[in-house]
Parts: sequence; C-alpha cells; structure tokens
Amino acid sequence: MRVLLVAPPGAGKGTQGALIATHFGIPHIATGDLLRDHVARETELGRAVRDRLSRGELVPDEVVLDMVAAAIAEAKAGGVGYVLDGMPRNMTQARALYEIGRGLQMTANVALHLKADDEELIRRLLARAALEGRSDDTEPVIRRRLAIYHEVTHPIVDWYASRGILVSVDAMRPVDRVARQILTALESMRSLVEHVPEHARRPIDLTGLGAAFGRN
Ligand code: AP5
Ligand code: MG
Repeated sequence: MRVLLVAPPGAGKGTQGALIATHFGIPHIATGDLLRDHVARETELGRAVRDRLSRGELVPDEVVLDMVAAAIAEAKAGGVGYVLDGMPRNMTQARALYEIGRGLQMTANVALHLKADDEELIRRLLARAALEGRSDDTEPVIRRRLAIYHEVTHPIVDWYASRGILVSVDAMRPVDRVARQILTALESMRSLVEHVPEHARRPIDLTGLGAAFGRN
C-alpha cells in the first residue's frame, strides 16, 4: 500500500500516519519529523531550515524532494510501500513526486485527504503546544501554517481527485473513529489498487459516512 496524506496542520497526519504504517507494515515518512530531526542534530541542513520551520513557512522544494526520493527508494529496496506525511505541499512538489514515483514504479495508490475545521485544528495544536513545545505551535504561526495550507496545499486535492486516487475522510471525530474508517477503506481498496488502473477509478468521499463509523 502506498499512501499520501494531504491534510492541514493538526488534522492528524502524524497520528493516522503512524497507525496506517503499523497496520500495513510500511514506513511512515514524515517530512516535518525529518526536518525537525535535522534541526535537533544541528546539521547544516537543520541550521538552514530552522527559522523557516519556526515561522511556519515551507522549506525549499528541492530539500524535501531529495529526502523523500531517498526514503521511497529505500522502501522499494525493502519491497514495501509507504505512507507519506507532509508531502506534497504544493503543485510543484505533487508533480515532482509523481515523476519520482514513476521512475521507481512506486507512485501513490491513494491520496488520503483528512478534513477538519480551522478552529478545531487551532485548538488541537495549542493543546499539543502545552505538551510538546514545538516551535511552530504558537497561535500566530499556526494561523500562518493554515493560511499556507489553504493557499498552496489544498488545491492539490483536486488534482488527486482528477487522477482517481483521492479518498476523503472526516477527521473531526475522535482518533479511533477516524482510524477505523481509514483502515477499513484502505483494506477494502487493497485489491482495487493492485488491479484497477488509476484512470479507471473515481474519487471516494467518505465524509458523509460518519454515522456508520460513529459520529462522536
Ligand atoms: P509538519 O510537521 O508536516 O507539520 P504540519 O503540517 O503543520 O502538521 P502537524 O504535524 O502540526 O499536524 P498533523 O496533521 O501531523 O497532526 P497530528 O497527528 O500531529 O511540517 C512542519 C514544517 O516543516 C512546515 O511548516 C514546513 O516548514 C516544513 N515542511 C514539512 N514538509 C514540508 C514540505 N513538503 N515542503 C516544504 N516544507 C515542509 O495531530 C495534532 C494534535 O492533535 C496532536 O496532539 C494529536 O494528538 C491531536 N489529534 C490528532 N487527531 C485527533 C483527533 N481526531 N481528535 C482530537 N485530537 C487529535
Ligand atoms: Mg505531523
């Protein structure tokens, strides 16, 4: 299974990405985590990107594309898929990622879109700030991250819909309910993604199915 997570800050990319990775036995490749690791280790790259992360601005495309290309090549060598969290963030990255995937015969099977309201996202991230102290979890920076998401990241969702690999999920519900719906959907798609070509597929919108998976 090869999954991309396209979602705003706080929607649950890290939370659900880890659960998907465990369920399918695939690596969870999180660009934000990789970048924060560089900052913590004070590598040259970490020093170069630290201020952008703290301001909530995107880092240059080449930086993340190089990291992700290496991680996907490693997944291929290991004979497994991946769940990619935090990439792509704009149309340039989406197209470049598709080319990387084509080159390795590792294009994504599913683009998973987690939908949630901005006010809920701000509430979650401020709650996390008290526990983890991430440098970008202050209200002005959270609002900046959300603005960038709406301006340059969200438009990618339509591109994945037109490619037939989009699955949209309501991420406003508790973690376990969201997870159950995602894993059920991905499990039921296993044979579909292996046997039905992208161009013959249609986007799947599960956001109206809250009741079936527990609304609260
Ligand atoms: P990144 O690390 O990707 O941060 P983000 O997109 O802002 O998202 P978060 O990690 O804050 O949220 P999440 O969606 O993972 O939610 P989580 O599961 O943690 O990127 C950070 C920075 O790195 C960027 O600003 C940029 O500078 C740079 N960067 C990264 N990738 C880049 C790229 N491709 N190009 C350029 N720059 C890039 O959940 C959040 C909180 O809510 C947690 O406390 C969690 O416990 C809780 N929670 C989760 N789900 C639920 C739920 N359903 N109900 C209640 N609480 C929940
Ligand atoms: Mg995250």
